Amino acid sequence: MSIYQKIVADIIEGIETHRYKRGQKLPSIRQLSKEYGCSKDTVQKAMLELKYQHRIYAVEKSGYYILEDQDFQDRTVELNPEDFQQLPYEDFRSCLTESLLGRENYLFNHYHQQEGLEELRISLQGLLADYAVYTKKDQLVITAGSQQALYILSQMNFGEGRTDILLESPTYHRMQDLVERQGLPFQTIERTFEGIDLQELEAIFQTGKIKFFYTIPRLHNPLGASYDLASLKKIIELAERYQVYLVEDDYLADFDAQKHLPLHYLDTAGRVIYIKSFTPTLFPALRLGGIALPQELLSPFLQYKSLIDYDTNLIMQKALSLYIDNGMFARNTRHLVTMGQEEESQMRKLLTASHLDLAVRFTPHGMILEIPHQHPIPVPLVEGVRCYKGKQFNYLVLQLPNNHSQAIQSFLTKLSKKES
Ligand SMILES: Cc1ncc(COP(=O)(O)O)c(C=O)c1O
Repeated sequence: MSIYQKIVADIIEGIETHRYKRGQKLPSIRQLSKEYGCSKDTVQKAMLELKYQHRIYAVEKSGYYILEDQDFQDRTVELNPEDFQQLPYEDFRSCLTESLLGRENYLFNHYHQQEGLEELRISLQGLLADYAVYTKKDQLVITAGSQQALYILSQMNFGEGRTDILLESPTYHRMQDLVERQGLPFQTIERTFEGIDLQELEAIFQTGKIKFFYTIPRLHNPLGASYDLASLKKIIELAERYQVYLVEDDYLADFDAQKHLPLHYLDTAGRVIYIKSFTPTLFPALRLGGIALPQELLSPFLQYKSLIDYDTNLIMQKALSLYIDNGMFARNTRHLVTMGQEEESQMRKLLTASHLDLAVRFTPHGMILEIPHQHPIPVPLVEGVRCYKGKQFNYLVLQLPNNHSQAIQSFLTKLSKKES
């Protein structure tokens, strides 16, 4: 065994025997070369090999760290839903420590970057390409969550006579609140599992009054439904024909097993404003999101943003950039997706056991049933169940069963009795 192979084998053995913990810093190249009596180049080669095997990651000007330890690998097999956000949290904490250590200069001497930290915009650009969102780094702006991006868009001027925001009904409750509580003019278009009435959309666009159409094309909140490709293409075609902007809230892109194409990908005329949130894959307290804007909207957007705050939390931006570049984002997303699939299969079992014959959709947050109006809904609703009343259907959103699987089971039984 060469010295290079020995270093690689020793570190892997250290990981497997719990000697090395996740996030732990390895001895420096200099220390290792002394310890093994070899050149720094040999140690460097071993580090590259370990990095290639996704065992360690490098932090610029700091050193090498353990990416995944044995405990972590063992634990993820039996992960339960309470751990849902534990993994990203632990990884993120090590990135946060890294962002603070020895960076005083950087933190105290930075100049304002309304558009966001350049290195995070580069990380985000790479990440978005994984969802087929191809955008220039200079068209990306980092915001304090999607919410700040939505607020700024709600304030912006989109041209003469364009007064109304168009919302899907139902839609994300915070967007609904944002519009209603500011008293902004808005219109709605009904969305079901099948999508929207595209003729109605055309008629609304034709009026010339729409500022933008806010849509959640895939894994919609609260319906869990995604538009089919034909609808996506038609929406883009209409937006281009009637020069309406589309605000694409792609908050669950990371969880889309079917890999639907985003509107942004289909857009050739720059009508799509694309929003990415880090809340579902990381945690809400992070308060970071990204927005890809058509060129002409960039400057007005940044001007509004500078009125709200003169910068976006720099430490968090730095940590998030590190988290993405080190492969932690991709790895944790994989775990979350696996966990979501397990929860979905539990939900499917509950549904099958209740013999309900209803259309259903799933998201990482729950199971959604489309209920015809004539089908009575048992009241009161149990904990973990919400109801949306639509013109054509009612919708029941049932949260994943972690704590209330029995309550959900008996609720489904009651629902099926009402059906027969
Ligand atoms: C449709 C939608 N967009 C965005 C978000 C996240 O928003 P933020 O990035 O402001 O936390 C959520 C959170 O549940 C959501 O449901």
